Amino acid sequence: MSKILVDRFDRVHDYLRISVTDKCNLRCVYCMPEEGMEFEPDDKLLKFDEITEVVRVLAGYGVRKLRLTGGEPMVRKDLDLLIASLAAIPGIEDIALTTNGIFFAAKAEKFKAAGLTRINISLDSLRADRFSMITRGGDIRKVLDSLEAAARVGLDPIKINMVLMKGINDDEIDDFLRLTMDRKLHVRFIEYMPIGHNDANWKAGYLSLDAVLERCVINGWNVTPSEEVYGNGPAKNYRIDGAQGVFGLIHPVSDHFCETCNRLRLTADGNIKPCLYWSDEFNVRKYIGDDEAVAKLFFEALEVKPENHEMAQALDNQAQSHTPTLRRMSQIGG
Ligand code: GTP
Ligand code: 5AD
Ligand code: SF4
Repeated sequence: MSKILVDRFDRVHDYLRISVTDKCNLRCVYCMPEEGMEFEPDDKLLKFDEITEVVRVLAGYGVRKLRLTGGEPMVRKDLDLLIASLAAIPGIEDIALTTNGIFFAAKAEKFKAAGLTRINISLDSLRADRFSMITRGGDIRKVLDSLEAAARVGLDPIKINMVLMKGINDDEIDDFLRLTMDRKLHVRFIEYMPIGHNDANWKAGYLSLDAVLERCVINGWNVTPSEEVYGNGPAKNYRIDGAQGVFGLIHPVSDHFCETCNRLRLTADGNIKPCLYWSDEFNVRKYIGDDEAVAKLFFEALEVKPENHEMAQALDNQAQSHTPTLRRMSQIGG
């Protein structure tokens, strides 16, 4: 076995996204049905010490960067304990969190002390009523408090994830861009993805991110590509002249970025997913405790990792080369 996690297309994988639960306190319209889902029973979820074991093995094969996701990762009790044990693994350099921010403010200090390095917070509207509509009941004030708390405890960078949806929040592009001017916040516009559901809403709501750069031109804002802000993901970043923060574009549908993919995913129920979009999965749970078998399974997963996803084909109802995943976004963690 190679000592690094390299796939058939010479992509080196040093980044693991760990979903710690499929549950969430919100029901964002692009992610989960209003009625919720059938959630995994607690005894099906990997325990913190099992996740730590998997990461310890992978650190021996070059994994350096971790991201905790969900569902909503903070629904899982005592997440700071997991962060602390991951932070203690030699080789791990970055432990980031993707969260809806509802519960974060009260825990910011504890999480930072445990070893959290940075945070990405979902925020799809800056208007309280619309935010509540998109999340089906979320209180924007809690998210804004969490952004403040993250800055107060010194997390840096702090990123906002905004899923752009036609007719829902596309009139707020300017407001989100202005946020980067006024504050050291980094806003990422994300194309709405057809993950795990054949959703008529998706086709109606999908909007290419060209709209964002067009708004800059219309407003007369000069933008320059920027690589200053740390990140391991697919965002292409730009800075508006004079702005404190950058804005990023994550456009898997209109222009995929698979050739630079450095990511593997671990679902809350212990499945390795080599690609967000496709259905291939490998359950690692029964191998935990046997380091060589755990590593071998990750290499097997990399063997079948496809060169790219085919989300754009879904937009045109075209046939696809593999089976798209049946899991919803909340069961993968983005
Ligand atoms: P940084 O390290 O801060 O760059 O994080 P990130 O952008 O990788 O993480 P985050 O959880 O904030 O994800 C932002 C968006 O990017 C989410 O909608 C993810 O689903 C999407 N994303 C991340 N990696 C991939 C990927 O490999 N493929 C696709 N299609 N989308 C991805
Ligand atoms: N398309 C694009 N982004 C999505 N997210 C959740 N569902 C989708 C989707 N269908 C985003 C969330 C969160 C991140 C993990 O993924 O907003 O910021
Ligand atoms: Fe929850 Fe995140 Fe899905 Fe929204 S996007 S329902 S916050 S898991």
